[in-house]
Order: sequence, then structure tokens, then C-alpha cells
Amino acid sequence: MSGNKAFKVGEKILFGIFGVFIVLATVSYIALEIFRSRAPEPIFQVKTHYDFSPEGERGSVIFRESGCTSCHRAMRNGTNMGLDLDGVGSKRSRDWIYQFMKQPETTYSARTIDHGGRPKEAAYVAELPETSLQAIAAFLSELKADQGSAASPLPPEGRSEFIDNMLKAWAPESWKEKYADIRQRNAAPAGTEEASH
Ligand code: HEC
Repeated sequence: MSGNKAFKVGEKILFGIFGVFIVLATVSYIALEIFRSRAPEPIFQVKTHYDFSPEGERGSVIFRESGCTSCHRAMRNGTNMGLDLDGVGSKRSRDWIYQFMKQPETTYSARTIDHGGRPKEAAYVAELPETSLQAIAAFLSELKADQGSAASPLPPEGRSEFIDNMLKAWAPESWKEKYADIRQRNAAPAGTEEASH
């Protein structure tokens, strides 16, 4: 009988595997931190930027004080429960953002989850004072995304073989007539393109 042994073979293997994972995770975390502190350039690049007008600056305070950050992230504040709004100013115009806050579903042409009429959780947004909404719209429209960031409509600069291959593999032929390749009308400097929807 092996009843008085501390661990059975199966348990030893299980704990062993678990232990190896923990050791590996710790070692790679330390290695990453060392690598990061010595890297000549930051390995995670910040791809969004801002340059606020006085109104935008006021809007950023109102944005935080109005509880938007309980659902949204902007400038490293807030959560990702709703949408990440960093770089939204490269996708949406100031007027679009304002219209969205006033009439979310009309502006989206779709059902929304949190914005809209009561009892939705972000219904209060449409009821904020006019000057607050204008200032928030200015603030958000000044959050710009650099080309290649997740918030930018444009992929990273330069020809990407990966994107070409994905297009070849997955995009139906009919798309070539239906849609323009955004990379081909890349004459405008990054961050100035305004979405029309
Ligand atoms: C309860 C969570 C919640 C709160 C609070 C909230 N939002 Fe939102 N927001 C969302 C969600 C979810 C969406 C996506 C649309 C939807 O389904 O409602 C969204 C979408 C948006 C969009 C559109 C983004 C885009 O590009 O499509 C803007 C702009 C926005 N919110 C601004 C604000 C502002 C400004 C405040 C504060 C005054 C705020 N939100 C508070 C959850 C929230």
C-alpha cells in the first residue's frame, strides 16, 4: 500500500507541470523586464497622440468627471468595458462625435448597448449640458491615432506582405470592384482622414 506517501504519482506529475509553468512565467517576465529596460527604443510604441485646444482641455476634465471613464479608455485613464476612445479623432469628426452623444442610434444606424434612451446605462450622456457636450466632442476629436495603430484606419507605413497575402487568401474578387484599397489613396497625411459614416 502507498497510503502513507505524501503524493501519488499523478499528483506529482500534475504539480510538476504546474511548477514548470510558474517557473517559466517568472523567468520570462524577468527576462522581458530586463530586455525592456535595456532596449534602445520602447518595445511597445505609443501610437496615439494629442494636442489639445483650450476647449479640448476642458472637455478632458468633463469627460473624467462625467463618469465616461467607467466604460471608456482615453489617454490611459479608464477601462475597456466600452470602446477604447484613444485615437477616435482620426476615425470620427468632431461633429460625428457630438451627434453620436445626442442621438446614438440615429448616428450609428444600429441598436446601441449603453448609449441611448433610459434605462440604458449611458443615457445620461445625451442629457449633459450643451457646453459640456461641445467640449467633450472637441476633446475626443483631438485624440489622434498614428498610422498603423489599432485605432487608425490605415495600416503601418510601407508595403506589407502579410496584408497582401491575407487579401489574396480571404478577400473575394468582387470586393476589388466594390471597395477602394485604402492604402492606395494614402496621399493625405496620417490622421487627417475623416470617416463619412
Ligand atoms: C455604461 C457604459 C458607458 C458609459 C458610462 C459611457 N459610454 Fe460611451 N460607449 C459605450 C458603449 C458600449 C459604446 C458602443 C455603443 C453602444 O453600444 O452604446 C459607446 C460608444 C461611445 C462613442 C462612439 C465611439 C465610436 O467611435 O463608435 C462615443 C464618442 C462615446 N461612447 C462617448 C462617451 C462619453 C463622452 C461618455 C461620458 C459622458 C460615455 N461615452 C459614457 C459605453 C459607455
